[in-house]
Amino acid sequence: MEKITIGPMPYMSVMPTLLVGANVKGKANYMTAAWATVACMAPPMVCVAINKVRHTAKGIEENKTFSLNIPSAKQVIETDHCGLVSGTHEDKSKVFKSFYGKLKTAPLAEECPVNIECKLFKSVDCGSHLLYIGEVEEIHVAKACTVDGKPDVTKIDPIVYAQATYWKVGKEIDKAFSAGKNYSKK
Ligand SMILES: Cc1cc2nc3c(=O)[nH]c(=O)nc-3n(C[C@H](O)[C@H](O)[C@H](O)COP(=O)(O)O)c2cc1C
Repeated sequence: MEKITIGPMPYMSVMPTLLVGANVKGKANYMTAAWATVACMAPPMVCVAINKVRHTAKGIEENKTFSLNIPSAKQVIETDHCGLVSGTHEDKSKVFKSFYGKLKTAPLAEECPVNIECKLFKSVDCGSHLLYIGEVEEIHVAKACTVDGKPDVTKIDPIVYAQATYWKVGKEIDKAFSAGKNYSKK
């Protein structure tokens, strides 16, 4: 396979599209984020890279809590809006209806089928962005988006982010931790 070099950049082929919820001076604020992933299994942790200038960063520093909300494809307009507008200039507290769970200071977006409550574990100063690592305190999932008590990706219908474009999850191709059993040595 012939390769070209494209220089150093923070590249990943696909990313999730999430809404980071944080209270800033007691008011809920939601920010779109794609630079997020799982950080640890035991204890369960997730992380998100947030530019230091974001209004959201102020809220996380203030309360040491935040939420990761997984929107459905049908929330794409509200989701993109939260990535175009800063809470510093415009009140985004009414874009989603907020509720609160175990952590009383991490706003959770009612309309999103999955809400992950996070207690700040550590923040790593990487330069332009702070990597916020959060310990997962609780996960709320819309009952209609579960099968046998577990979140179901086809029902959640999450938004995939790639190449400055929103996508839907594609077709299943094989089973993980299983397909590799058919590998034959070269
Ligand atoms: C699809 C998308 C993904 C984004 N991902 C991130 C991200 O991972 N980290 C970040 O700091 N900003 C990200 N942004 C930019 C922020 O969402 C944007 O600057 C927002 O207005 C910040 O809101 P706030 O100032 O209220 O926190 C993203 C924007 C979009 C549209």
